Amino acid sequence: ADNKLWGGRFAQKTAASVEDYTESVSYDQNLYREDIAGSQAHARMLAEQGVLTSEEAETLSRGLDQVLEEIESGKFEWKKEMEDLHMNIESRLTEIVGAVGGKLHTGRSRNDQVATAFRLHVVRSLEAWKVALEKLVAVFTAKAEANTDVLLPGYTHLQPAQPVSLAHHMLAYAWMFKRDHSRVCDCIKRANVCPLGAAALAGTTYPLNPAFSAQQLGMEGTFRNSLDAVSDRDFVMESLFTGSLIMTHLSRICEELIIWANPCFGFIKLPDAFSTGSSIMPQKKNPDVCELMRGKTGRVFGDLISLLTTVKGLPLAYNRDMQEDKEPFFDADKTVHASVSIMADMMEAMGFNADNMEKALKKGFLNATELADYLVGKGIPFREAHHITGAAVAHAEKTAKGLEDMSLEELKSFSDKIDEDVFEVLSYEAAVKRRVSPGGTGPESVKAQIAELREWLA
Ligand code: ARG
Repeated sequence: ADNKLWGGRFAQKTAASVEDYTESVSYDQNLYREDIAGSQAHARMLAEQGVLTSEEAETLSRGLDQVLEEIESGKFEWKKEMEDLHMNIESRLTEIVGAVGGKLHTGRSRNDQVATAFRLHVVRSLEAWKVALEKLVAVFTAKAEANTDVLLPGYTHLQPAQPVSLAHHMLAYAWMFKRDHSRVCDCIKRANVCPLGAAALAGTTYPLNPAFSAQQLGMEGTFRNSLDAVSDRDFVMESLFTGSLIMTHLSRICEELIIWANPCFGFIKLPDAFSTGSSIMPQKKNPDVCELMRGKTGRVFGDLISLLTTVKGLPLAYNRDMQEDKEPFFDADKTVHASVSIMADMMEAMGFNADNMEKALKKGFLNATELADYLVGKGIPFREAHHITGAAVAHAEKTAKGLEDMSLEELKSFSDKIDEDVFEVLSYEAAVKRRVSPGGTGPESVKAQIAELREWLA
């Protein structure tokens, strides 16, 4: 026989290899606070419903407080043969309070218990992501505010396209992370639902009150269907997707920072505290933080794919496969939270090299669209203006000049509509200032974006 909590019908001991293979206590002990809170809520609910006496519920609750204390002070002895954290805690509780400990599991299954604890845990993690994302949006907004006059090439296909302000570029990221924040809030809404009272899968004959348990735990809602309550893991999968998207956004900035740090660009000065050196090449200052963040993005995708794959073939309701939901989430949680936080700190310390950005503006005819628009203003159809400008660019390229470096006579040879006033529109500052369309890189739009983000942050 075995002394397991479920050992009643078993005549043989579990094989040691099976204990190793099936245990989850080595990692789900992370959830002890949530599991204990869930048990206390369940005990109080049982008393409220007259299933337990209030003295019994009080004894259980105090016993659980003691277990919590033992865990937090490192005195608690986790036992692998007890399989998971739920059974470790319950069996220690029974040692402390005696036979009444056996009443805690009335109208409850570990299936409800684990779903409750994990939901509480995911909500708690997502709350931390929210705080970190708020800081990140604040940092990008502050960087925008400090760099409204700095211009750099805007790229498409990583080829010079049109000038933009550095502020506008920073704000693009602020908006992405603000959307990520709203996705996290959404995930919290759906995760914050309490499965207690599902009683393994079918509900129970005891007069349970799931709303009371939910309210005790500060959770927002109750389930509508007990089968769904114990076997739904969408709250984890959508959190992992949201984490994957956050990492995708971070990875794009990392890629840009790596390019910008290359001396051919020289747009940024990587802060020493966020760079590393080479063991052989003394001159090196490498963007390892960015590279690792880009690399860790793949790991978080893996966590998402891992759980999607785990769940896709599962019949209702609970299956033990679901125990494999925890490690991917723990891994992604750690990675996403650290990445968002480090990006905020690194961006805060980032130095920009406005001179090199300005030099880069002069390479690649970023004002060609300005010339074409100028010709349109003189009555030439856009397609023809595009063609004329293309010819002017080809000529400038041959003579190794920018459009703005050509003489009026040279320019006039492409169209007699070109006058002295062309030089105003060929200036890069003017190109940015003249972009007055809503959401564009022009100063009014940038100001409005900053104001809107500031208001959201406040
Ligand atoms: N350790 C399990 C998990 O993480 C808890 C639920 C186990 N339930 C069961 N009937 N075996 O999913």
